Amino acid sequence: MLEKQFTKIDNLKNHIGTEVTLAGWLYRNRPSGKVQFLILRDGSGLCQCVIESGKISEALFEAVKSLGQEASLTITGIVREEPRSPGGHELAVTSVKIIGESKDYPITPKEHGVDFLMKNRHLHLRSQLEWCIGKIRHTIINSVRTFFNDNGFTLVDTPIFTTIAGEGEQTLFEVDYFGRTLHLAQTGQLYLESAAMSYGKAYCFGPTFRAEKSKTRRHLTEFWMVEPEVAYIDLHGLLELGENFVSFVVEQVLKNNRTQLEEIGADIAALEKIKPPFNRLTYTEAVDILTSKAAADFLANQLESFKSEKAAIINKIAALEAENANAKKQWQINKIAADINELKNQADELDVKIENNPKHAQLAANFKWGKDLGGSDETIISLMHEKPVFVTHYPKAAKAFYMKTDRTNDNVVENFDLLAPQGFGEIIGGSVREDDYDMLVHRVKEEGYAPESYSWYLDLRKYGTVPHGGFGLGIERTVAWITGSKHIRQCIAFPRMMDKVEI
Ligand code: 4AD
Repeated sequence: MLEKQFTKIDNLKNHIGTEVTLAGWLYRNRPSGKVQFLILRDGSGLCQCVIESGKISEALFEAVKSLGQEASLTITGIVREEPRSPGGHELAVTSVKIIGESKDYPITPKEHGVDFLMKNRHLHLRSQLEWCIGKIRHTIINSVRTFFNDNGFTLVDTPIFTTIAGEGEQTLFEVDYFGRTLHLAQTGQLYLESAAMSYGKAYCFGPTFRAEKSKTRRHLTEFWMVEPEVAYIDLHGLLELGENFVSFVVEQVLKNNRTQLEEIGADIAALEKIKPPFNRLTYTEAVDILTSKAAADFLANQLESFKSEKAAIINKIAALEAENANAKKQWQINKIAADINELKNQADELDVKIENNPKHAQLAANFKWGKDLGGSDETIISLMHEKPVFVTHYPKAAKAFYMKTDRTNDNVVENFDLLAPQGFGEIIGGSVREDDYDMLVHRVKEEGYAPESYSWYLDLRKYGTVPHGGFGLGIERTVAWITGSKHIRQCIAFPRMMDKVEI
């Protein structure tokens, strides 16, 4: 097999002193007279390859020098340890084979706008940041499966074509199913409840669809969700399951992806704090916090720190512009220009925060019991806590029909959202399910749905009903939180949003 001839960069530690061949793409080349310092990427990592003139033919040396970014090539050489090289090893090159040219690769090391990168997503995936996020997403998904498989859950794949709504009709995607209008699944939950009555503990894991018209940093129209469902569990048990699950996932990322976390500048110290128990607040307590003086003071302090951050950035930009005026080498000029661009982006983001802060403060101060928590409210609550926060017992009217009415307070349901810390906001939504047949029929009708359409779901309450519940964790939101990504569109290879379906 072709692949067997090549050594992977992440395996170089086992080949020190021997000759190996790497197969990959040109990440960067800095020729310097008679030596070229070429960075190769092969999908497993980056490696510096040192090519000295005389070690390969003059013609090949020149051909490699003029190769464009992302040209494909194989490089043979002796492996040596080099702490300053990315990955800690470098190759003393003995031969090179050019496989494919790459002229005018559109994504250069300079800063590009988000729109441009999204239009070139098929190439953008090769960039280091995207690669790191993808590697972390892989670990997250793997650990999600491991957690449930190792804790007695059975995987049940739920359908994507559905006849009933789970999470509100306003976000349903319609499809023409042989002349009949069906919907794409917003959740696998209702089916999974049926599976939980068979297996006791079940989970589904797949893509879910919501016709989200809002273009926020937290919403996709197609996202991946894992949903566990357990028979004979109460709210207390669900929260415990949720905090053990999220802590396990974070622990696995810390264990397997520390280099990637470091490379993208994720907050490792904050992730290390993600251990049970998480904070627990009722919705009513959350509302008290939002309308408190503590929240008002917190937001006022935040506004001041945004303003001083902005002032510091403006100073840095001025310093870099002065430096740029004296820079001689083209690569230095490019690097400074890229840094200035990045700082300008940060300044723009701070402007948005400075503009939004008073609006969010006002929304929080005037928050009335009964409303669902909005994105900015979640942000405030989660910013005020270092560890994730469970918010439980929301008003019944603000939540889905299947949630169990609290038998001690008819106005609230036995549900929870889990808010990730540092302002990230909701990553999990879940609840105990209404298990009383009559109460569920009543809620279905109240929602304006036809009980006939839900007859199979209602059957679960007729034939051996039990207390049960579960939750759904959004994968892209979790990836965004753990990696510190500003927008969840970066956290799936090919994001789908209202205005993004190509590539
Ligand atoms: O809170 P949600 O709507 O809950 C449900 O779908 C339940 N049926 C889950 C259950 O109890 N089995 O969604 C769960 C999670 C959210 O916390 C969020 O992480 C993610 O799914 N999510 C989205 N992620 C990206 N884009 C969207 N438009 C999302 N909507 C929800």
